[in-house]
Amino acid sequence: MAGSKKIMFVAGARPNFMKVAPPLQELRKHPEVFRTRLIHTGQHYDAEMSDVFFRDLELPRPDQFLGVGSGSHAEQTARVMVAFERVCVAERPHLVVVVGDVNSTMACAITAKKLCIPVAHIEAGLRSRDWTMPEEVNRVVTDAISDLLFTPAREADDNLVREGIPPERIYFVGNVMIDCLLAQLPKTEHRDTLQRFGVTAGNYATLTLHRPSNVDDPEVLSGIVEVMMELSRQLPIIWPIHPRSSKMLEQSGLLDRIARHADFKLTDPLGYLDMLTLTHRARMILTDSGGLQEEATVLGVPCITLRQNTERPVTVAAGANRLAGNQPEGIRAAIHSLLNGTRPNILIPELWDGKAAVRIVDVLMHFYAHG
Ligand code: UD1
Repeated sequence: MAGSKKIMFVAGARPNFMKVAPPLQELRKHPEVFRTRLIHTGQHYDAEMSDVFFRDLELPRPDQFLGVGSGSHAEQTARVMVAFERVCVAERPHLVVVVGDVNSTMACAITAKKLCIPVAHIEAGLRSRDWTMPEEVNRVVTDAISDLLFTPAREADDNLVREGIPPERIYFVGNVMIDCLLAQLPKTEHRDTLQRFGVTAGNYATLTLHRPSNVDDPEVLSGIVEVMMELSRQLPIIWPIHPRSSKMLEQSGLLDRIARHADFKLTDPLGYLDMLTLTHRARMILTDSGGLQEEATVLGVPCITLRQNTERPVTVAAGANRLAGNQPEGIRAAIHSLLNGTRPNILIPELWDGKAAVRIVDVLMHFYAHG
């Protein structure tokens, strides 16, 4: 029957939207086989954390918006599960596709699985081995119950096999977020983002921070900010501030101190295209985001990660990324060596070629032809 397989995608938080767009758009090229649905859980809800990505990525409006909002981990996860269960019961999709590692990812995977609906996880197998990260819990739980696991790197396959996941469920397809990046990059060519911030290409750093381990502890946050104020005297810094971080900066009184540094430029969270423009042209990226480590790698921009570990070691092996921890000495040393050393030779990881979504759709075609 034409379009008989109903594939339901879930997106909830900012880093999900660019991972959903490529496979959704690719599946829509096969209406004779697939019908797609997009469910937005509402984990992120501010216009600059959500709507702007739908515009920039030309994503279709979600078929349903669950409006779960913020809360503790248990509250948020529970609200997603209750709301998503109703959707699944009413719609009975043939497959639920979850992406990444946010609370919505795990909540929807568990919900679908308990209704005996098959689950596919895109970006499976990443491991930081840091159980203080809520995302690590989300990753391990989601992978343990997924029927199809699409991985972005070979080491992810190894992680899954080590955890006892049957190899026939694992497909190394490459990185869908890089599909999105390569598709959108031409749109950034004539964007005025740099002019708006008064910087020129190669002469500024881009900073992002949002991990609880960096921003929820005022001592850690103030140590990082101190080093950034020093750097801003040499190299302007643009910092799009995540809502979690802006609350903490306000509470700790750090916001006023930063505002006195003209070359430390703070801004609200940016949309996809502005952020991509800023990443592409930066001298360096300073971040605790997983996605930015990958984007910097593909764009050939050196990245300093303000964490002790990464679930994306392929970015370190590629020569793009170094782990500096979140203490001032480590961050200072990493910045110093980037500013004073030779520019690293950066390699593009295997299958980060813009075709991951095509490979995923091939697998799904095969799955339904023979499954
Ligand atoms: C979530 C994900 C994290 C991801 C990040 C990207 C989990 C466990 N964490 O973290 O993996 O890297 O998104 O941004 O799923 N808030 C707003 N407006 C919004 C959304 C949130 O103001 O649109 C504020 C709320 O005060 C909220 C806080 O930000 O309490 C944190 O939001 P939440 O979704 O709980 O976690 P993130 O830190 O955004």
